[in-house]
Amino acid sequence: MKVGIIGCGAIANIITTSIVPEDNCIDIEYFFDKDIERAENLASLAGGVAALDFDDMVDSVDLVLECASPASVKEYAPKVLEKGVDMVIMSIGALMDDEFYLEIEKIAKEHNAKVHLPSGAIVGLDGIKAVAKFGLKEVSLVTRKSPKSLGKEIDVEEVLFEGKASDAVKEFPLNINVAATISIACHKDIDVKIIVDPKVDRNVHEITAKGDFGEFKTITMNYPCSANPKTSMLAALSAIRLLKSFNETISVGM
Ligand SMILES: NC(=O)c1ccc[n+]([C@@H]2O[C@H](COP(=O)([O-])OP(=O)(O)OC[C@H]3O[C@@H](n4cnc5c(N)ncnc54)[C@H](O)[C@@H]3O)[C@@H](O)[C@H]2O)c1
Repeated sequence: MKVGIIGCGAIANIITTSIVPEDNCIDIEYFFDKDIERAENLASLAGGVAALDFDDMVDSVDLVLECASPASVKEYAPKVLEKGVDMVIMSIGALMDDEFYLEIEKIAKEHNAKVHLPSGAIVGLDGIKAVAKFGLKEVSLVTRKSPKSLGKEIDVEEVLFEGKASDAVKEFPLNINVAATISIACHKDIDVKIIVDPKVDRNVHEITAKGDFGEFKTITMNYPCSANPKTSMLAALSAIRLLKSFNETISVGM
């Protein structure tokens, strides 16, 4: 599978440097970034090609992996899917715009392309998807981030946001992919609380789900990426797992 990457930052670096020759089904060949130097650096590290022309890249790959920004999803996803090329999207917040979600779903269906959204920086999505249409009554997310990851200097914890995921995504577009992923997985605009907490040095996500099935709670305490403290290591690792799953005969925990 030939892959082209949009966005050559923290996530792309972890993915590219973690794919080893034994993963011979995944060939990350093209690197595209609005900052061409970043594309060239990662391409040379990976023995690939820095793409100067986005359309040329799409014509040469089986899958485009977006790890850039919500704006890049809006700009490039329609172009990729129109060519019948599959896509993995990391900046999932972009899909909280209902009109855009329906537009790319339509384009993908018409051109027989698939859109994959990795579980990202949380655990528990398998359970949420399983119960989504079976009496799921309540889902909430409490996210705690360190002041450093939000560029703040404070001594006591502060609630930055409390409300629906659709509003959180507008206020914190680069920080709240997790809320977007859960909302899309269970077809609900979930309740979200974002706390900046000087006691944590990790990105902590606590999910609670209640319904006719019972109740579950998951807590993920992620180490941030050194290259970007807003991003959790697990987000990149989940994308690697997803890429590898495309070549599996037996899949578990989907
Ligand atoms: N799904 C999840 O759980 C999850 C978790 C963490 C991060 N993310 C998202 O993944 C994306 C990448 O995260 P990161 O930590 O690697 O970011 P990063 O800032 O380290 O790297 C982003 C790269 O994309 C490039 N870029 C940005 N907009 C672009 C555009 N329009 N066209 C081309 N290149 C563009 C930048 O120049 C940069 O090199 C972000 O949108 C982030 O919010 C998702």
